[in-house]
Amino acid sequence: MFEVVHKRQLSDAVFEMGVRAPRIAGKIRAGQFLILRVDEKGERIPLTFSDWSAEEGWVRFIFMRVGKTTHKLSHLEVGDSLADAVGPLGVPTRVDGLGRVAVVGGGVGAAVAYPVARAMTEAGSDVTVILGARTANLLILREEFEVLPLHELLIVTDDGSAGEKGLVTAPLKRLAASGAIDHVMAIGPAIMMKFCAETTREFDVPTTVSLNPIMVDGTGMCGACRVSVDGVTRFACVDGPDFDGHAVDFEELMSRQRVYTEEEREADAEYLRECECHR
Ligand SMILES: Cc1cc2nc3c(=O)[nH]c(=O)nc-3n(C[C@H](O)[C@H](O)[C@H](O)COP(=O)(O)OP(=O)(O)OC[C@H]3O[C@@H](n4cnc5c(N)ncnc54)[C@H](O)[C@@H]3O)c2cc1C
Ligand code: FES
Repeated sequence: MFEVVHKRQLSDAVFEMGVRAPRIAGKIRAGQFLILRVDEKGERIPLTFSDWSAEEGWVRFIFMRVGKTTHKLSHLEVGDSLADAVGPLGVPTRVDGLGRVAVVGGGVGAAVAYPVARAMTEAGSDVTVILGARTANLLILREEFEVLPLHELLIVTDDGSAGEKGLVTAPLKRLAASGAIDHVMAIGPAIMMKFCAETTREFDVPTTVSLNPIMVDGTGMCGACRVSVDGVTRFACVDGPDFDGHAVDFEELMSRQRVYTEEEREADAEYLRECECHR
């Protein structure tokens, strides 16, 4: 069950993995995610579908190795299996009727931005993608974006090793200020989404963000993923993950993401000591 049928390393810490999941594959829409467990005793982690085939019965996701569970996941090989996976979860991203859209994908957020940008182009939107990373070798999916029928693909790196030097907010500001876009979809680290929303607020450009709070059950029962939007508590797993970026309380989101930092660090260190893989 949930056999790994594909694995590809995209950068030092980022992997693409495909698993056999015919019942899930038949229902997915862009922006939705699954919650998986690597093994029976493992924690549940959410990952967004990056690609899928209903005909062939597989789903793919792209993940960055950041802690214990993503380390374990990166050690699975083709032929191994996940303990379980549930999905598709979350409200699909709105992809039609948005006019001229800028999709911003930062870091591993590009994995979520890719199926969203693809679905928007299929729905007839005029899509500009701003793809950002700290440095050139952390840019992922560039070739995949290049073959989409985009209006433009803009590459940005913090150190200028590929594309424009700087942050994704610089080209975003130019597009918003020139009136070239009607909507923005920003996906990446919370701090990036916060500054994208700050940038577009000035020009009154509606901005959707894809939030990534800690999730446990993914069904709206545990409350782990609660976020404040316009002063109202919402559950990202069932009400989101997409929300109006101009209404999200990003400070609260970021402080809640850090609640278990110490425990996460210890769990990862212990796992690495036990598996002796040093990665
Ligand atoms: C809806 C959604 C979609 C996501 N899609 C992707 C994706 O496509 N690719 C990707 O690389 N990452 C994605 N993430 C983040 C991913 O779930 C975390 O990186 C992963 O859970 C880290 O687990 P860990 O044990 O390896 O790291 P840990 O050391 O446990 O944690 C590292 C950091 O990851 C976050 N995190 C930890 N546990 C969870 C959890 N149960 N739920 C959410 N975040 C957690 C926290 O911010 C934490 O500080 C998504 C998160 C959400 C909420
Ligand atoms: S993850 Fe439990 S309520 Fe959303």
